Amino acid sequence: MAERIRRIAVCTGGGDAPGLNAVIRSAVIAALRHGWEVYGIRDGFNGIFFPERYPEGGVIRLTEQRVRGIAHLGGTILGTTNKGNPLHFPLHMPDGSVQEVDRSDEILQYFARQEIDALISIGGDGSLTIANALHKKGLRVVGVPKTIDNDLDKTYTTFGFDTAVAFATECIDRLHSTAESHQRVMVVEVMGRYAGWIALHAGIAGGAHAIMIPEIPYDIDKVAAKIASREGMGRHYSLVVVAEGALPKKGQRSLAAAAEVGHSERLGGIGEQVAQSLQSLTGKDARAVVLGHLLRGGSPTAFDRLAAMRFGTAAVRALASGKNGVMVALAIPNVNFVPLESVAGRMKAVPLDGDTMHTARELGISFGD
Ligand code: F6P
Repeated sequence: MAERIRRIAVCTGGGDAPGLNAVIRSAVIAALRHGWEVYGIRDGFNGIFFPERYPEGGVIRLTEQRVRGIAHLGGTILGTTNKGNPLHFPLHMPDGSVQEVDRSDEILQYFARQEIDALISIGGDGSLTIANALHKKGLRVVGVPKTIDNDLDKTYTTFGFDTAVAFATECIDRLHSTAESHQRVMVVEVMGRYAGWIALHAGIAGGAHAIMIPEIPYDIDKVAAKIASREGMGRHYSLVVVAEGALPKKGQRSLAAAAEVGHSERLGGIGEQVAQSLQSLTGKDARAVVLGHLLRGGSPTAFDRLAAMRFGTAAVRALASGKNGVMVALAIPNVNFVPLESVAGRMKAVPLDGDTMHTARELGISFGD
């Protein structure tokens, strides 16, 4: 039987996603009903590593009052970082070089010192891989799946994805009229890292004519041919959605910045490249629009808000029933719990034989293959 819980901590890690505050609020309220104290760690684990940076404290008490009225707000009241992986923490040396150090033991020591019995870690694959490592070292941990990219395995969806897709779809809708008025090709670059979920879902919903996703290396000539065939039918404009991680058959992924210690490579720039190529191949005017971090902002949709609240309360339910080393997952119509081990370090790509892909193909959308 698991030891009784008196205190838990919550942290948010990696890129922010709409719904983080709804998870925090629901977890706090559910935990308070058990009589537990709840603490929030600032900026991933930085609140533990650098308490001097936080006048209010690097780890703050989360009361009902503190989480009131936040469920609909984007961002995270705790702050987050995607540069502070405790397992590979960047240490700046006096000679200017940067080395990696493992600071995970400091987290366990902090929890022991403060008599905090468990951690709810809200994050994507990076944060959940860290959570799994902390669990293996003896920390009681439950993970909550967050990311706009929807690339986490073992859950039907992550919170944040629906909001990103809804916004991207609205943007594509808006681009239709200007594309048509000017008889142009509009190329919309969306986030998603190495998975094409956002591009695929928003592309279909927004009526795109071509979608390029990392799972299907594309041939730009095929996309140009699609645009030319539309011209032949008297449709003098086209909408193309490109995932930031899209991969040309001949060439490389487009990087905005190379990887550095403590931070993975940053994708970006493919939209402009595709627009320029399509302009020269089709002779049509082409423009690129990069949605970027706009997809991470704003109020969560009702779907994401509800998913976040279900995940937050389920995380507390898991701890209360003695579960440990698990992630809350959406297994429609219910939530369930899967081992963190089965999620850590894995990526959920778009299945090419799934019905969403069939839908796109049957609608005549080109993938450049
Ligand atoms: O994982 C979320 C995400 O927004 C990805 O879609 C994107 O590649 C990455 O984070 C961007 O990270 P940053 O905020 O460091 O630019």
